Amino acid sequence: MSNSDFTPRESFSSKFGVVAAAAGSAVGLGNIWRFPYVVGENGGGAFLLVYLFFIVAIGMPVMLSEFVIGRKAQRNAIGSFKKLAPKTLWYFVGVIGVAAAFLILAFYSTIAGWTLEYIVKAISDSFAGKDMDEIAALFDTFHTGTFWPLFWQIIFMSVTLVIVIAGVKNGIEKYTKILMPVLVVIIIILCIRSVTLPGASEGLSFIFRPDFSGLTAGSILSALGQAFFSLSLGMGTLITYGSYISKKEKLGTTVVQVTAADTIIAMLAGVAIFPAVFAFGIAPEAGPGLVFITLPNIFQEIAGGYLFALIFFILLAIAALTSSISILEVVVAYLKEELYMTRKAAALFAAIVITIMGVLCTLSSGVMEDVKIFDSTFFELMEFTASDILLPLGGLLIVLFIGWYLGSKKTRREVSNEGSLRARHFPVFMFLVRFVAPFAIALVFLYGLGWLQI
Ligand code: PFF
Repeated sequence: MSNSDFTPRESFSSKFGVVAAAAGSAVGLGNIWRFPYVVGENGGGAFLLVYLFFIVAIGMPVMLSEFVIGRKAQRNAIGSFKKLAPKTLWYFVGVIGVAAAFLILAFYSTIAGWTLEYIVKAISDSFAGKDMDEIAALFDTFHTGTFWPLFWQIIFMSVTLVIVIAGVKNGIEKYTKILMPVLVVIIIILCIRSVTLPGASEGLSFIFRPDFSGLTAGSILSALGQAFFSLSLGMGTLITYGSYISKKEKLGTTVVQVTAADTIIAMLAGVAIFPAVFAFGIAPEAGPGLVFITLPNIFQEIAGGYLFALIFFILLAIAALTSSISILEVVVAYLKEELYMTRKAAALFAAIVITIMGVLCTLSSGVMEDVKIFDSTFFELMEFTASDILLPLGGLLIVLFIGWYLGSKKTRREVSNEGSLRARHFPVFMFLVRFVAPFAIALVFLYGLGWLQI
């Protein structure tokens, strides 16, 4: 048995630590890399409105539900259900979560690796004097390669591993606290430059003028998947973090703060990207490479662009890191508490398996481009299965668990800190969790997968 098994359960040390760690998990590549590219692929404004609706009507209730489960049970994603619903099959929700964690970190580390390469490109001033096509070619040459994308992925996974081994307080909390405000400032500067580029207005109407005629069943499912992905929901990340939150914290307030931070940063990323996409003539549906092609073009147009590019990619990598540690922590907390592995062995084991899966994702843009399963590359398959299927499915089961199994009385006690808070909005939350969220998720699912025609 390791030392940590005899010490009291780890927890976050301060209010700011809780919000910072949960926001650190939520804010990441999902906001800056994934959000703009799925908005671009799904036609812009109408998609954005659907996304925002899902954040409020589904995302926030799921987040509070996860915090309640974790803090009440004081366990990992699977153990929490075993404790709160003994001798039932509810723990299977946690199993889905742990499976999703493997898939998500596999492809997440591919993209995080790309950000590391772009730090090096920024240091060596590789974008200077290049036009749009040359910058696109730079990205193509890199991400279709073999050695460097794999090299950076492995570096990224190793850093994630080292921090997770250090544990919750020393690792996770410390690194999340300081850097996010700086990231926000840089994105705001990028927004200002982007909207003042000639031709920028077309980009603004693309995201802010909704055209519902282009909205498909598939894009509604993508909006739901993106809402879950961006808020780190549906796979027990926030159950696990919830178990580290002290009994004195106000869970409801934390949910509002984390959701606000996450949504504001995604919106800012959209405002930074789309005006520039149209100004430079880049295709909005360019896919996963979108930000890596668009942003270097903006940096070229800014005084001091060299420095901005450098700081931006460093912060993006850090934002990715604070998310990746939260994903790995889901698996580690499970292995440690349920299978009695030491933190170190659990982290090492999980990181190795995930890295092997990640290699398949990384090579999907290069030598394994033509290896297809159901018409998708490994990368596409893992991204779709995890974000658009497993996360919403996990979310559905989580709200059903709170709304119909745990019930109003026990949930209220946890949300109100044993009655010491008024929890004024509790009835609204309970209504969303019981009726709105399950119905909406189920509908989007059936419709998005083509099993229901409207
Ligand atoms: N929310 C993270 C992001 O937006 O980058 C990604 C993520 C973290 C997804 C943790 C899921 C998760 F459980």
